[in-house]
Amino acid sequence: AAVKSYQFNIQVKNVSRLCHSKPIVTVNGLFPGPTIYVREGDRVLINVTNHAQYNMSIHWHGLKQFRNGWADGPAYITQCPVQTGQSYTYDFNVTGQRGTLWWHAHIFWLRATVYGAIVIMPKQGTPYPFPQPDFEFNLLLGEWWNNDVEEVVKQGNKLGLPPKMSDAHTINGKPGPLFPCSEKHTYSMEVEKGKTYLLRIINAALNDELFFAIAGHNMTVVEIDAVYTKPFTTEAILIAPGQTTNVLIRANNMPSRYFMAARPFMDAPISIDNKTATAILQYKGVPNTLLPRLPKLPALNDSAFTLSYNAKLRSLNSLQFPANVPLKVDRRLFYTIGLGMDPCSTCQNGTQLVASLNNITFVMPKTGLLQAHYFNLKGVFTTDFPDRPPTPFNYTGAPLTANLQTSQSTRPRLSKIAFNSTVELVLQDTNLLSVESHPFHLHGYNFFVVGTGIGNFDPKKDPSNYNLIDPPESNTVGVPTGGWTAIRFRADNPGVWFMHCHLELHTGWGLKTAFVVEDGPGPNQSILPPPKDLPPC
Ligand code: C2O
Repeated sequence: AAVKSYQFNIQVKNVSRLCHSKPIVTVNGLFPGPTIYVREGDRVLINVTNHAQYNMSIHWHGLKQFRNGWADGPAYITQCPVQTGQSYTYDFNVTGQRGTLWWHAHIFWLRATVYGAIVIMPKQGTPYPFPQPDFEFNLLLGEWWNNDVEEVVKQGNKLGLPPKMSDAHTINGKPGPLFPCSEKHTYSMEVEKGKTYLLRIINAALNDELFFAIAGHNMTVVEIDAVYTKPFTTEAILIAPGQTTNVLIRANNMPSRYFMAARPFMDAPISIDNKTATAILQYKGVPNTLLPRLPKLPALNDSAFTLSYNAKLRSLNSLQFPANVPLKVDRRLFYTIGLGMDPCSTCQNGTQLVASLNNITFVMPKTGLLQAHYFNLKGVFTTDFPDRPPTPFNYTGAPLTANLQTSQSTRPRLSKIAFNSTVELVLQDTNLLSVESHPFHLHGYNFFVVGTGIGNFDPKKDPSNYNLIDPPESNTVGVPTGGWTAIRFRADNPGVWFMHCHLELHTGWGLKTAFVVEDGPGPNQSILPPPKDLPPC
């Protein structure tokens, strides 16, 4: 194992897209940011120095950070932000994981421009469990606003309504030629006839679950969220914000130019956002003037495609990479996902949209929850969540008003989990306002997605249909609109771990919570001591 060091300078840079130029926050002046290349077993040191007039904090999305929440990054959960002029070194080991993950700012909406790929190579001499690709590329899907993103958010908060939608979707930071002034802002990937390519696809968009396809080329899915899957071939993939998907493609079509395209999936009869980002797959030796053709993407609201796509996702569950699904459950949790209106004294209309779990809107603390837990600081948070069942209502057909009840707590309310206990969490969507699934992300863990369905979760019937053999293992899962998803994990990583909807809009509205996983009795079962340079609050 090696030590890999990176320097991340947070700096503002002018970038132009869609005929507009604006200053954006970047890492080292790059957009998207630099790729972290490591090998399974490496120690990684990333020094973040903040030269911008924004507070900063960076999350290594999907890395388990065993006993080491200090390096996890969500602001006010595991650390206070790195202030202007300050530095912090994220120091962590990459153990038991290989594949594609990513990093992003985890404070306000700054991840709109502060994000990049993490590539974890398998241990030396360990091949992939699929045909060796000849080459590989990273494809980061994102969103672009012409206005300053923090201003857009402020505007939304003032109205108590969703802020202005993004102006473009992007592939590797570029919208592609379907957008104005974007001819030269088009990502192009050159391939050679007959070769095999591994594409590491990351959804870094803030608010959109996306379809992605390549004209004239099928994709074979081999990995999601840095976990190998049973390979299957598909014309299009579905990828939620936060998720990563590795696919293999063969450059076996007629040498030409082909569009790759990404467009949202919105599970509602109304078409809201159909902006299509494109990039080009170009065969070697083909003239740049050839007009590429577009791939066929599923329709905006094609929930039949998404259901069948998700059903194909299975853990590889081989001898070498077994799926250790907890079969016995020590702790059962049931959280409802809701959207509602709350009174708001600073908002123009006196009300604002809020989101909740079990009718509770999470309030952010002013000090890091992990510090509060580790140093036993009283009065920062409580561990009484959830202390009562959710307000009863009809999950699927009730009049809207019955489903809108939320209340704000005065302090963050967390759930306390005993070390090494097995947890089953059922997430039940109840809001009828939303048009897309909620991509729930858990920090510090992977979980198994043992079941999902449309309508009300039935505790008597649904568990008998769980997949406990080869369910997909991931760190982010889409909870379908008007449906439910059941996940299981073993709480073997002590710390304070954030869980939230990876739609930035919903996180901002309070669709989040955290788990306190207690220390175990053994010598390597407790939280490591905090690093000396941990940013103070
Ligand atoms: Cu990728 Cu808490 O997020």
